[in-house]
Amino acid sequence: MKTPKAAIVLAAGKGTRMKSARPKVLFPALGKPLVVHSVERAVELGCDPIVVVIGHRAQEVREALEARFPKAPLRFVEQKEQLGTAHAVECARKALSGFGGRVLVLYGDVPLLTRDTLRKLARASASVPLGFLSMRLEDPTGYGRVVRDEDGVVVRIVEQKDASAKERAIDECNGGIYDIDARFLFRALRAIGKDNAQGEYYLTDLIEAAHRAGTPAVAVEVPAEEVSGVNDRAELARAEAVLRERKNRALMEAGVTLVDPGTAWIEEDVRIEADVVIEPNVRITGRSRIGAGSVIGFGSVIENSVIGRDVQVKPYCVVEESRIEDRVALGPFARLRPHSELGEGVRIGNFVETKNARFEKGAKANHLSYVGDAHVGENTNIGAGTITCNYDGKNKNKTVLGRDVFIGSDTQLVAPVRVGDGAYVGAGTTVVRDVPPGALALSRPQQIVKEGWVAKRKAKLVAKPKVAARRRSK
Ligand code: UD1
Ligand code: MG
Repeated sequence: MKTPKAAIVLAAGKGTRMKSARPKVLFPALGKPLVVHSVERAVELGCDPIVVVIGHRAQEVREALEARFPKAPLRFVEQKEQLGTAHAVECARKALSGFGGRVLVLYGDVPLLTRDTLRKLARASASVPLGFLSMRLEDPTGYGRVVRDEDGVVVRIVEQKDASAKERAIDECNGGIYDIDARFLFRALRAIGKDNAQGEYYLTDLIEAAHRAGTPAVAVEVPAEEVSGVNDRAELARAEAVLRERKNRALMEAGVTLVDPGTAWIEEDVRIEADVVIEPNVRITGRSRIGAGSVIGFGSVIENSVIGRDVQVKPYCVVEESRIEDRVALGPFARLRPHSELGEGVRIGNFVETKNARFEKGAKANHLSYVGDAHVGENTNIGAGTITCNYDGKNKNKTVLGRDVFIGSDTQLVAPVRVGDGAYVGAGTTVVRDVPPGALALSRPQQIVKEGWVAKRKAKLVAKPKVAARRRSK
């Protein structure tokens, strides 16, 4: 049987060096709060429960995680005072009472840690009470050092402030991520004191306890990048750059063209099929999906939206919370606001804004229009400058256009209003009443033509300045 796994995520810290009102663990790295990255690792490994130790701005951190992981077995425990990493883990004792498997200890500010590394750690430490991740650093200042005996057996970890000059010269450092037998953990924690330079309860004292018990800990060395924490905004930017690069590489390996990977901003949960082309300066966020053969043009922003196959998003489009079906052509300079839906082959051109609107197959709005709270039937054509007047100052009202409708340029559709299948609306019309199928609606005043009017007008205009000039010369 597989050993049950639980996790403890340490997220009580303030993150003083961020110099922010926001708790550090809620700063986003590539669109996701730092602590979300850590909890995701625990979820992927099937940890149950996942105990999150919160302290600073506890409620905010809790709400953010609950919203993000509605189904995960999260438990929250509060650490009122930050008395050290061992004290933080001690706070999880009750939440894990009766749990007899392995406990994964993670920090809430280490977003680059991968699932594979944690699996490696689990394998390497399966037969001992405790395993942890270590790294080699050219400048190990500030980190706990891994002290080994002459046979290379891990004896203890000594913190920077407690280390002798000789120990400070050690370049193998503690990464702060542990895989621990639960019974060993909670027994050994009881014996941890705070007789050290910082007067804190050090979780690292567990390593010495394991050695004394005759079952020394195992250190799994990983690239420093993976376990490096985020402490200030510069480190956050660096971590974010690594996350972006990893995502970009994975996409290119899967057959996606990134014309300029250095300017592509594509978040982790975005899925893109092969043979999609992403032009420079594109940002794609959330749970966006893009189907094969589509092109996302220069400078476009796609937020949490689904795009089908062979779609042409021309430069400078903004698409939010929307759905675009196959073979649509969009833009340049189009804006789809939330809940826009474009059926197969729809064409939306420049300076067209849509919101909460469905366009059925083959419908078109090619220039300078606002279409909000609307349903546009198949093959209907919306002329340039058409506006749905969907808001009456209080309520949003719906515009329904049937199929094969022709809406002339510069039309206002004052909602609620319906235009039946096949109807025509003449250019410049203000539609305030429903138009039956097949009818023509017109609301423009009769055109007046006065032959020869311009010449007469000019003659009058020429006469006037002479009068004025005479007056001035008097
Ligand atoms: C810790 C390790 C050190 C290791 C380093 C790696 C100890 C004593 N030292 O040092 O060996 O090299 O991590 O990054 O464990 N936290 C709480 N409550 C507390 C204290 C800390 O929730 O009372 C959280 C912090 O918010 C942070 C994490 O635990 O996310 C680590 O704490 P931190 O104070 O940064 O430990 P380090 O001194 O860096
Ligand atoms: Mg730290």
